[in-house]
Amino acid sequence: MMQGSKATWPWPRAAITGASSGLGAALALELAAPGRTLHLSGRDPARLAATAAACRAAGATVAETAFDVRDAEAAAAWIRGMVGSTGGLDLLVANAGTSAGTGGTREAPEAVARIFAVNLTGALNTIMPALDLMGAQPPGPDGIRGRVAAIASIAAFTASPGAPAYCASKTALQRWTEATDATARRNGIRLHAVCPGFIRTPMTAPNTFPMPFLMEPERAARLTLAGVQKGRARVVFPWPLYAAARLAGALPVSWLSRLPSKAGSGAPEPPPPPPAG
Ligand SMILES: NC(=O)c1ccc[n+]([C@@H]2O[C@H](COP(=O)([O-])OP(=O)(O)OC[C@H]3O[C@@H](n4cnc5c(N)ncnc54)[C@H](OP(=O)(O)O)[C@@H]3O)[C@@H](O)[C@H]2O)c1
Repeated sequence: MMQGSKATWPWPRAAITGASSGLGAALALELAAPGRTLHLSGRDPARLAATAAACRAAGATVAETAFDVRDAEAAAAWIRGMVGSTGGLDLLVANAGTSAGTGGTREAPEAVARIFAVNLTGALNTIMPALDLMGAQPPGPDGIRGRVAAIASIAAFTASPGAPAYCASKTALQRWTEATDATARRNGIRLHAVCPGFIRTPMTAPNTFPMPFLMEPERAARLTLAGVQKGRARVVFPWPLYAAARLAGALPVSWLSRLPSKAGSGAPEPPPPPPAG
């Protein structure tokens, strides 16, 4: 059973990147409640404003800022601005992300560069200044100064031939987050590597392959926040897909080249089954 509920998530001041769509918008709406301040960011001003309006209608105080997470200066200024406006930050969800499928062909160099720049460097562009901000603020009643949820993926545990850069970027983010949590928690800061399976969002809409255990963004948002609230360093769901991904990751690497690659863009491909024969 999930802990927490819309009104009782224990973070009065939260910031979310990629709040203009999909999981980020669902996280914002799940957190939106009276007495809570939300800092929302994305690139598309109109979709960001729509999320912000829905959160205000739910009683939250909302500040929205459009910027590209690849712009390190803009990302740092966004985080630093929270000290002046709300006196600090209890939860950052580094959620903005991008993907591209290869259909089994070589990845275009610009797609590889974009995926790493957004999914890894872009996430760090908000996380690093947030760690500085949280380190300077006093601990709350639970002894925690602040929390960072980095949205990786179950793709972090596979090397899908159809999405090499996506998988690798998510592996890097997941590993960095878990390793950093091990030391940051000594200073009262927690980091959580969130690794969801397939979620019905614009990112997965183009996928033509079967997406096992596909879930709605609202459920993924609640599972994400429940895992963070429980203090899990790795928040991963759904567990059958995680088990399959770990199993597939244990297969001989040479089998990867015998697997079919799926066409189209989108989030993680399903964990590869063992090749027949
Ligand atoms: N959908 C899945 O099955 C799935 C599974 C596991 C993990 N995830 C991860 O969950 C996160 C959210 O994905 P989603 O499924 O909700 O996809 P989505 O609907 O496409 O949303 C992606 C969000 O990221 C923002 N974004 C992308 N590039 C950006 C950039 N350069 N600068 C700032 N913002 C940027 C987008 O903003 P604009 O639209 O305003 O440009 C949008 O708000 C991603 O990190 C994704 O990898 C998704």
